[in-house]
Amino acid sequence: MAKVTIDGKTIEVPDGTTILNAARMIGGEIVPPAMCYYSKLKTSGGYCRTCIVKVTKGSEKDPRPMPKPVASCRTTVMDGMEVQNITSPDLLEARAGVVEFLLVNHPLDCPVCDQAGECHLQDLGYENGKVKTRYEFKRRTFEMIDIGDKIKLHMNRCILCYRCVKVSDQLTPYRVHGVLNRGEQAEISTYIKNVIDNEFSGNVIDVCPVGALTDKTFRFKSRVWFTKPVDAHRDCPTCSGKVRIWFKGADVLRVTARKDEYGEVVEWICNNCRFDKKQVSDWTIEGPAHISKHSVISANHYETPFALSALKADVKKQQKKLEGKKVELGEGALNPNNK
Ligand code: SF4
Ligand code: SF4
Ligand code: FES
Repeated sequence: MAKVTIDGKTIEVPDGTTILNAARMIGGEIVPPAMCYYSKLKTSGGYCRTCIVKVTKGSEKDPRPMPKPVASCRTTVMDGMEVQNITSPDLLEARAGVVEFLLVNHPLDCPVCDQAGECHLQDLGYENGKVKTRYEFKRRTFEMIDIGDKIKLHMNRCILCYRCVKVSDQLTPYRVHGVLNRGEQAEISTYIKNVIDNEFSGNVIDVCPVGALTDKTFRFKSRVWFTKPVDAHRDCPTCSGKVRIWFKGADVLRVTARKDEYGEVVEWICNNCRFDKKQVSDWTIEGPAHISKHSVISANHYETPFALSALKADVKKQQKKLEGKKVELGEGALNPNNK
């Protein structure tokens, strides 16, 4: 075990734990942002540098500080290590620099971008960015492309976090896309106009922290904060079937995987659940999804029996439309704390 202190809070963690995961075990504001690390994807992390921290004491054995900020998702703790994140003004200034770099080529698309309202880059820019850009050159731009019949790639918004590449590598039987070229020319692309087409490919949409990979069945249907997220499940032969469905009125606008407090997928879902099950009758509804208070989606979002009865009324309306098809509300649906 190793003892580590982050922003004055001490915790003992198993050897080999990264600083980021130690901070997540402590929880709260001291947890560094992570745009490329994804706990469910092996070898993720180390690309974006948003998770940098200042190590003011290396370890009990060697107390020298580390000479420059380190990526907390890739640096393991040592016994006696002391780390600063939000308590170091220098570090926050360095992170603001990282954000500035990430935004150098990023378009001002938020008003028309499907990711707005659940975009980690928006949060990062708001919490750590500067108000003005100093960049005077032309931003690099790409044509939008379809990679498969259900996924749209808008490369202008990509921050090259590699998460989608890891999904294809680790979740699907073969990989047909990756990062071509390097530096300014780097881009996510399929191998010679190939398409991403396999049962779990839709998960690239959920892991993308920005609006670069979007669901073509949901694009431009609604701003996400006008939709109502609800946890639901079905008996799926391919995946766990545990999803989040996003209602607008009584219509299911999209189906996604459920996400945890760090915006990471809890269980991967298959394309059939994601793209083809858009009827309420396809699902057993569990109850309103838990949405973090800091998210814009949480406005007017109540996780109470009242919210559930409103949802039931909507479902009944939908049932009528579907003329007698069976819709179930699952066990625990009346629990207001159902998360
Ligand atoms: S990806 Fe995020 S920051 Fe970029 S345009 Fe879309 S909502 Fe805005
Ligand atoms: S497309 Fe999205 S998930 Fe893939 S590298 Fe770009 S930002 Fe990351
Ligand atoms: S989250 Fe650590 S480098 Fe990206």
